[in-house]
Amino acid sequence: MAQKAKRRVEQRWMDSTSGVSVVNAVMERVSQMQLFQLCLLLLGTFVCSGLARGEIPALREESGERLMIGTAIMSSQLDDPARAALIASQFNCVTAENEMKPDALQPTPGHFTFERADRIVAFAEAHQMKVAGHTLLWHHQSPAWLFQEPGGKPLSREIALNNLKAHITGVVRHFKGKVKSWDVVNEAISDGPEGLRDTPALRAIGDDYVLKAFEFAHEADPDVELIYNDYNIECDYKRDRAIKLVTRIRAAGLRIDGVGIQGHYRLEHPNADEIRRGIQAYVDAGFKVMITELDVDPLPRKGGEGADLSASEREGLDPFRDGLPVEVQTQLAQRYEELFKLFLAFPQVSRVTFWGVTDADSWLNNFPVKGRTNHPLLFDRQGNSKPALQSVVNVLRN
Ligand code: XIL
Repeated sequence: MAQKAKRRVEQRWMDSTSGVSVVNAVMERVSQMQLFQLCLLLLGTFVCSGLARGEIPALREESGERLMIGTAIMSSQLDDPARAALIASQFNCVTAENEMKPDALQPTPGHFTFERADRIVAFAEAHQMKVAGHTLLWHHQSPAWLFQEPGGKPLSREIALNNLKAHITGVVRHFKGKVKSWDVVNEAISDGPEGLRDTPALRAIGDDYVLKAFEFAHEADPDVELIYNDYNIECDYKRDRAIKLVTRIRAAGLRIDGVGIQGHYRLEHPNADEIRRGIQAYVDAGFKVMITELDVDPLPRKGGEGADLSASEREGLDPFRDGLPVEVQTQLAQRYEELFKLFLAFPQVSRVTFWGVTDADSWLNNFPVKGRTNHPLLFDRQGNSKPALQSVVNVLRN
C-alpha cells in the first residue's frame, strides 16, 4: 500500500517537475511510516478544511427532476469562492434575498439599478440554476415615492397606478427570459380579521391593487410564472382569506400560476397537520404551491409566529451562542424530515427554497430580535452540513 502510494506521489511529482528528480532524493529519505503519517495528516486536513464537502450529498442532485431546490442569496456572497461553490453545488434555483426588491431596483423615480441583481442572474445562468424573482410589490423595502407624496399622503389612484405599472414593466421586461417566476405581490393579506393589510398601495390605489399588479406583470412578460407570496397562508387563521384573494385574481381572468408559502417555521409551529391542510386547500383550488422562504427557527420567541417584519422584539434570549446542543440539532433534523415528507407528498409542490445558505447569513440572526446567533438552515456558520441536511437527503432519496 505505502509503496504504491509512494510510487504514485513520486510519479505525480516527477510529472510536475518534468523529470527533475529532486523527488527521488526526498522519497528515498522518507520511511514508510513517515509516508503513512503524512497521508493521515493530509486526509485529516482535507476532512477538517471542508474540502471534503464534495463528499456530502448535493441537494440539487438528490432532488432530481421532482423538485427544484432553491436558496436566497446576496450578490456579495459570490465574492467568496467557497460560498459560491457551495451555492452552485447544492441548489438549482436562486432568489435574490434583497436585490430584486423595489427599493433595490428603482430607488428614485425612473432610475433603475439592476447591477447587483444582474450579477445574481449571471451566476445562475453560469451554473444552470433557475431564478425566482422576489418581489415586484411589497410594503417593506419599497421606496415611499411609489405610492405616497413627500409628506406621506397617499398619491392619487391614477399616479400610483402609473408608478406601479412603470415599476413592474421596467423590472419584468429587464429580466424577461431570465427569471422563471415572479412573486408579484408579497404579504398583502392582513394578520387581523380584515382582508387586505393596510399598506401605502392599498391607500393610494384601492383594493384592486393586487389585481393590477398581476395584470401589469403579465403584460410585461406573458411567459413568466406569476406567484402570490405570503407567510402563514397555510395556517388556519389566514388560509381562507388567502384563497379568496388568489381565486379573485383568477376569476378576474388574470394569470396566476401558484401560491408561494414562505415557510418561516419554528420547531413545533405550525404543526404538520396544519401545514398539510393548508397546502391541500391550494391544491384543491387548482394552484401550484411553492415553499419560497423555508427556515426553521430554534430560538425562543415572546411574540407571534410567522414573519411580520414589523413585529420585531427588542430583546430575547440567545441560548445557542456557542452552537446548537445535540438534542436541538436532532430536533431540527427531525423537523426538516417531517416538512420534506409532507411537501413531497404533493406533486403540486414544485419548488422548495431555503431562505439563506448558511446559518451565518440567515435573516433570523436579526429577526425578531437583533444580533442573536441563530441556527435555522442546513449548513452551519462554517458552511459545513448539519444533520438536517442528511435528513432532507434521506427523504429525497426515498
Ligand atoms: C428579509 C431579508 O432576508 C433581510 O435581509 C431583510 O433585511 C429583510 O427582508 N419575508 C420576505 C423576505 O418575503 O423578503 C424577507 O427577507 C423575510 C420575510
